[in-house]
Amino acid sequence: MTRVNKTIAVVSGDGIGPEVIRAAISILEECASAFGHSFEFIELPFGGIAIDRCGEPLPAETLNACRKADAVLLGAVGGAKWDSQPLTGRPEAGLLTLRKELGLYINLRPVKLFDSLRAISPVRLNEDEMIDLEIVRELAGGIYFGPRQISGTEASETASDTEIYSTKEIERVAVYAFQRATARRKRLVSIDKANVLASSGLWRKTVERLARDFSEVKLESFYVDNAAMQLVLRPAQFDVMLTSNMFGDILSDEAAGLAGSIGLIPSMSLGNGTALYEPIHGSAPQLAGKNSANPIGAILCAAMLLRESFGLHHEAAAVEKAVDHALAAGFRTPDIAREGSRAISCSEMAGRVAAVLAESTMEAEKYGWGV
Ligand code: IPM
Ligand code: MN
Repeated sequence: MTRVNKTIAVVSGDGIGPEVIRAAISILEECASAFGHSFEFIELPFGGIAIDRCGEPLPAETLNACRKADAVLLGAVGGAKWDSQPLTGRPEAGLLTLRKELGLYINLRPVKLFDSLRAISPVRLNEDEMIDLEIVRELAGGIYFGPRQISGTEASETASDTEIYSTKEIERVAVYAFQRATARRKRLVSIDKANVLASSGLWRKTVERLARDFSEVKLESFYVDNAAMQLVLRPAQFDVMLTSNMFGDILSDEAAGLAGSIGLIPSMSLGNGTALYEPIHGSAPQLAGKNSANPIGAILCAAMLLRESFGLHHEAAAVEKAVDHALAAGFRTPDIAREGSRAISCSEMAGRVAAVLAESTMEAEKYGWGV
């Protein structure tokens, strides 16, 4: 097997970010030693902690190191301490700038309900149904990046944000969504609010025109309000969902809830340069430092990173399988534990996954990688 030598920029950020990223790194280290790879981790200040230390959420040194790395692994940013800052100086602004500067216009959020967690999903599914969908979220445009304005004073203030999309911006992310759907169950639902918004009208027209180039894929366009309801009523109908920046942010939290916990869901951001991997949950300040966050979203980020940035398919599959086994064996962090049942800590969960991984790689070495 080929051995790789890679550098990973680590921006673990605030709140539970450092805890879950530590867990993901422990799994990557386990992988490196089991498969003979060498990963160098470069930890960098980012988010609120960087505001405290360096006076800004995304120091130039951090951005440069991310650009040079083979992949970026990110925890979460934000917290009450920085909430009073103006929007442009907040940890969240650092995250948006990082995405923009790295040219990351695609964000993939796979939402899968593990078999062993069916009982904790808030939706009722028939036995033959599953939740296995991917949200392809536009990440570099829309209302997150359009002009903002605040004017007036005291009781008569006015504030605005602007949703802008161009044909080009819609096409480049839509093509990726069609490709994902082609490789999966060949169904794509594009989300918009074309009955009200001009930007959504362009979104729908552009996606529907592109559909002619992907005749294998069945495309439907849903209004976002209907999509939010359909997700709760019949989540099994979805394969790939294509969304604007804002709609994807909202619908991915909803979909994550259906899978049992937002702590379980990874994401990958792609574009012109280095890819970035981050769990979709926030910094959860109320959990920070308690070693009780769910590291699975971050660990699944590590698996995506191995597959998509390093081409290490066996390794990625082994990590995913180890997560599946640890959950099937009944290990639960508090967010996914049923009331009254025992929960383990963030680091213990990582240890359980690492142990299954070590065991399975030893088996594979003995019996070949087909197992
Ligand atoms: C996410 C987060 C971010 C977003 C915030 C922290 C800026 O909610 O990645 O989903 O809105 O994109
Ligand atoms: Mn979000």
